[in-house]
Amino acid sequence: MFHTNLKKKFSYCILVFLLFAVICVWKERKKGSYYGSLKVQTKEFQVLKSLKKLSMGSGSRSMSSSSTQLPHRLTQTLSPRVPSKAKLQPTFQVWNKDSSSKNLVPRLQSIRKNYLRMNKYKVSYKGPGPGVKFSAEALRCHLRAHVNVSMVEATDFPFNTSEWEGYLPRENIRTKAGPWHRCAVVSSAGSLKSSQLGQEIDDHDAVLRFNGAPTANFQQDVGTKTTIRLMNSQLVTTEGRFLRDSLYSEGILIVWDPSMYHADIPKWYQNPDYNFFNNYKSYRKLHPDQPFYILRPQMPWELWDVLQEISPEEIQPNPPSSGMLGIILMMTLCDQVDVYEFLPSKRKTDVCYYHQKFFDSACTMGAYHPLLFEKNMVKHLNEGTDEDIYLFGKATLSGFRNLRC
Ligand SMILES: *[C@@H]1O[C@H](CO)[C@@H](O)[C@H](O)[C@H]1NC(C)=O
Ligand SMILES: *[C@@H]1O[C@H](CO)[C@@H](O)[C@H](O)[C@H]1NC(C)=O
Repeated sequence: MFHTNLKKKFSYCILVFLLFAVICVWKERKKGSYYGSLKVQTKEFQVLKSLKKLSMGSGSRSMSSSSTQLPHRLTQTLSPRVPSKAKLQPTFQVWNKDSSSKNLVPRLQSIRKNYLRMNKYKVSYKGPGPGVKFSAEALRCHLRAHVNVSMVEATDFPFNTSEWEGYLPRENIRTKAGPWHRCAVVSSAGSLKSSQLGQEIDDHDAVLRFNGAPTANFQQDVGTKTTIRLMNSQLVTTEGRFLRDSLYSEGILIVWDPSMYHADIPKWYQNPDYNFFNNYKSYRKLHPDQPFYILRPQMPWELWDVLQEISPEEIQPNPPSSGMLGIILMMTLCDQVDVYEFLPSKRKTDVCYYHQKFFDSACTMGAYHPLLFEKNMVKHLNEGTDEDIYLFGKATLSGFRNLRC
């Protein structure tokens, strides 16, 4: 008797809740929600911290627990019910700026440890930290002061010798590149696939791409414009197509090569990571009018120092990724930098590149490069919304030019 009574009560509760849910969904449909186009991956992203806190406070447990099983379009409908002092906005679970290597899968943890042991570039960091806290504003100033973004010049030994005469561009990159207002940095992430961001990317004053990332056949997702292409020395050295492929003939080219941690230009020249110099010269002979620069080898380590300074644990003693270098480069040339899919969006995937079918979680989380810590920094510097990261993989950073330090 008692038992059936309870059962009855329980089914009434369920009925009432279902009715409520149906009304909510119906109302939302009618409104033509902003999130209408959003396919929500409920399993991964539906955690709505603020809503949870709130409904727990008001005692409506059943609502809070059930709301975590509903797409977050519902929170929009629920939000008017909450006390007005708590401003409720849907929160999107995106990259956490305090991510730690402890959260990496075991394989990536052990790769990181191996790199720490190997210390291929003889890194001996003597600076402040680890774990120095900066406000985003202070960090921007710190980066500008400590990372000298410049190119190897024709007056730098041994590029001032007869062997190199006429090969390096005569003009400083600052006369060729920028200053620009809005710039886009387009990663090569697999999650750019089906992003439909092409038009938005092309609407920027300048677009930076990496290595052999193509635009042909991917215009819808990555756009068509290439203003700067940043390449690693491995590509220039070993990629047979590099000298002839028209992919490389648009925009300004910049190549970078990791030096030993303390090396100056002459020392690096004797012992580059990849000996790209001959191919560089060949390319220059074939395309003498296309600006093609060599990044000063100290710059990646100056940036690495800041990454180590602000990270609370030891970071891989390997140079930062091309992605991170490109972001800092554009911050020196542009007022505003929109970075696409460096911080993963809802489309996050283990597919490494949008133009290849190759899977590895290391591409997002980092193995060789201290990618995890780079993402922490970019998240800290981000002035855009979490929603932009979640939906478009877009982080928005202010450039250095208008900084008041
Ligand atoms: C940056 O490096 C260039 C080239 O070596 C040098 O001329 C310039 O003075 C440096 N700037 C700063 C702020 O250190
Ligand atoms: C090249 O630069 C080095 C170091 O600055 C200098 O000693 C040397 O005389 C220069 N060589 C030429 C040919 O200008």
